[in-house]
Amino acid sequence: MENKKEERYLTFALGKGRLAKTTLEMFEKIGITCEEMKDKDSRKLIFVNEELKLRFFLAKGPDVPTYVEYGAADIGIVGKDTILEEGRKLYEVLDLGFGKCKMCVCGPESAKDLLQHHELIRVATKYPNIAKDYFYNKKHQTVEIVKLNGSIELAPIVGLSEVIVDIVETGTTLRENGLTVLEEVCPLSARMVVNQVSMKMENERITKIINDLKKLVSVQKSQTV
Ligand code: PRP
Repeated sequence: MENKKEERYLTFALGKGRLAKTTLEMFEKIGITCEEMKDKDSRKLIFVNEELKLRFFLAKGPDVPTYVEYGAADIGIVGKDTILEEGRKLYEVLDLGFGKCKMCVCGPESAKDLLQHHELIRVATKYPNIAKDYFYNKKHQTVEIVKLNGSIELAPIVGLSEVIVDIVETGTTLRENGLTVLEEVCPLSARMVVNQVSMKMENERITKIINDLKKLVSVQKSQTV
């Protein structure tokens, strides 16, 4: 008689958008596939690979750490920006080496002085926790944080704030709007996060996935050097 206990489904939460496509390509390279997910016209929210006992769903980036903390997903793939902003209880286990960009303080050149002299300025951002941590704990500068939900670069242009804290990838958005990087807050990239209980209960399966991805990341790294 088969002695092995029935495997439960491992659930992955993937952030919708930029990171999802590369994530699925990487999974495919380590043998984790989900044909169902490739159908672009589908409105289905959850996809299953019966054979490997895996489930995948796409969620809004900031919700991924929430699903993982509560154990609704065992594993999440999400940007470091979101991990820092959400501050959830989870294990960050791997830097996947793609989606590289930087969190920066940006504004017009003229705002440089305001930062240097620790003036009481307004900072617009989609990332109030990251901005607070940077200005209050690292720079010890008192500022007023204004939360926005997108197109952050508009804020200094129309006079809502002196500077912004935002993601810079190619720098094109800044350049095209007469803004520049004034200070760098931290480097960002896609990360794998794991639920703390799942890491114990499903250690063998999850460790295998981490190790396979680690190998793939180091091969991809050596190919780009
Ligand atoms: C992000 C970010 C910047 C831009 C940076 O915005 O907030 O605006 O990309 O990229 P770049 O340096 O290559 O120009 P996103 O496109 O995600 O939309 P949002 O402004 O609505 O947040």
